[in-house]
Amino acid sequence: MLIAIASLKGGVGKTTTAIHLCSYLQTDRPTLLIDADRNRSALVWAREENLSFNVASQAGSAALIPQHQHIVTDMKAGPEEVELIDLATGNNLIIIPTTPNHLDLDATVKAVEMLKKHNVNNYKILLTKVDSRTVNSRTAKKFLEGKNLPLFKAEIPLLIAFEKASQNGKTVKDYSDSRAKQAWKQYENVGKEILNN
Ligand SMILES: Nc1ncnc2c1ncn2[C@@H]1O[C@H](COP(=O)(O)OP(=O)(O)OP(=O)(O)O)[C@@H](O)[C@H]1O
Ligand SMILES: [Mg+2]
Repeated sequence: MLIAIASLKGGVGKTTTAIHLCSYLQTDRPTLLIDADRNRSALVWAREENLSFNVASQAGSAALIPQHQHIVTDMKAGPEEVELIDLATGNNLIIIPTTPNHLDLDATVKAVEMLKKHNVNNYKILLTKVDSRTVNSRTAKKFLEGKNLPLFKAEIPLLIAFEKASQNGKTVKDYSDSRAKQAWKQYENVGKEILNN
């Protein structure tokens, strides 16, 4: 599978999603994460060498691509419209992570409008940083469903363990507390939804 993770907004969980999804996909086939962000966040995450899959910069990925069956591209925030369309044509699926925050939802709708304008349909929205106690989190799903947008069944909970995992170059899979376990399960479910389609 060729998957790109993109959004018009920063900080919505693109890199966190790329890392955790790759960790799941690696259990299926050799997986390469291409860090296409100038900030090189995924490469920094991988620096401790605790991850089960390979990570490369865009410039450094060419020789590695043929050795991998799943390739996941982690984009910078706010790609240009042409970049978004290039991603859609060059990948099987674009994942658009969004938090339930209304500004992030608004940017998600704008990204979808860009894609629709070019008849692109291979995208799916992933709700991230979902705090079930907040009103926003309860209404976000309804809002997206009301607009008939394709949405992952799995939702990623708001959890401090994600911060901890990134600081230690790990995934939440490596933490044994029950909330981290549940959060990992959600990323596993995202991976399953992708592979079973
Ligand atoms: N589900 C979550 N719960 C709590 N914190 C999270 C979650 N997902 C991501 N974060 C935290 O939110 C911040 C932004 O996440 P991340 O870097 O994955 O977003 P991004 O979309 O890649 O950002 P950028 O646009 O800057 O590349 C990080 O500090 C990360 O640890
Ligand atoms: Mg990022």
